[in-house]
Amino acid sequence: MTEQKYTRQEVLQVQEWVPGKLLSIKVSRPDNFNFKGGQFARLGLAPSNDPNAEPTVWRAYSMVNGPNQSPLEFYSIVVPEGEFSPQLAKLKPGDPLYIDNTVFGFLTVDRFETGGTLWLIATGTGLSAYLSMLNDPTTWEAFDQIILVHGVRTKEELAYQDELRQWEEKSNTASLPARFVYLAIPTRESLPGVPQERITTLIENGELERLTQCPLSPDSNKIMLCGNPEMVTDARALLKKKGFAVGRRGNSGNLAVENYW
Ligand SMILES: Cc1cc2nc3c(=O)[nH]c(=O)nc-3n(C[C@H](O)[C@H](O)[C@H](O)COP(=O)(O)OP(=O)(O)OC[C@H]3O[C@@H](n4cnc5c(N)ncnc54)[C@H](O)[C@@H]3O)c2cc1C
Ligand SMILES: NC(=O)c1ccc[n+]([C@@H]2O[C@H](COP(=O)([O-])OP(=O)(O)OC[C@H]3O[C@@H](n4cnc5c(N)ncnc54)[C@H](OP(=O)(O)O)[C@@H]3O)[C@@H](O)[C@H]2O)c1
Repeated sequence: MTEQKYTRQEVLQVQEWVPGKLLSIKVSRPDNFNFKGGQFARLGLAPSNDPNAEPTVWRAYSMVNGPNQSPLEFYSIVVPEGEFSPQLAKLKPGDPLYIDNTVFGFLTVDRFETGGTLWLIATGTGLSAYLSMLNDPTTWEAFDQIILVHGVRTKEELAYQDELRQWEEKSNTASLPARFVYLAIPTRESLPGVPQERITTLIENGELERLTQCPLSPDSNKIMLCGNPEMVTDARALLKKKGFAVGRRGNSGNLAVENYW
């Protein structure tokens, strides 16, 4: 008998962050489901009116939980016209969710040399991949400083604030530079202390370096970009001009990117 390529797991908890737009979902973790922070799973849904049907729609989702944490957690947008996410948003505890046995992805910190500053730059749900890295103690051990930059449309979309602020408090002492810098940047509302600008604008005009007090020098910084593909393309081009490059054979590089669509 051929082994099935996926398992049926159970939804344990659903949290709505922004009604109709953002939610997170906790799901039982399959046996032998091993991954690195930043990797993603393929989640499957069966037609909603038939509980015994096989999954027919599959989408990629970064894990939010750390590699050694259970259950699995995913953070999702709801795209009203999408085939998958509106169905995902209807799930309740006890409902099935299918998970491919294979994990995927190369947005992992082990592709960089250790040391220096790790920049984790995301728009929207691109934050998911970084939460998993931050939920893994090895990430904190590998770098001297971590800077998380999260660009969203509105303040209410700044999910996981409690965890992020706790990490900020725990990891920072009075000494400078701060070990963990968390920069939350809404673009369609103002938030005191941060400019209401896209991340790409802040890279281009030098504001990101000023706000974090960290020069974007390719010698001591490693940068990840995750989320909106246009942001990734534009930020990548700006960083290329500063000397950042994705690793190639035999060279670990100082830039890593992942597009969410
Ligand atoms: C490697 C990888 C990891 C991913 N991880 C996540 C994750 O952790 N959380 C998550 O919500 N999504 C993630 N996605 C996107 C996810 O796979 C689905 O595309 C998304 O959930 C929407 O599915 P859908 O069928 O409803 O719409 P789709 O038909 O898949 O997408 C329709 C349109 O919606 C927009 N869109 C899709 N995904 C997003 C998004 N995340 N944010 C804003 N707009 C979007 C795009 O314009 C896209 O063309 C990831 C994608 C990839 C490739
Ligand atoms: N269910 C609902 O009611 C509802 C409501 C709204 C949206 N949605 C869904 O959510 C999706 C959008 O999700 P999202 O807001 O997380 O993603 P997004 O549109 O990618 O916006 C996230 C952040 O990225 C910024 N950004 C966008 N393009 C950029 C670029 N080229 N360069 C740099 N920064 C850029 C945005 O700035 P700007 O603000 O300047 O664009 C914003 O700060 C829509 O496609 C829609 O499907 C659902």
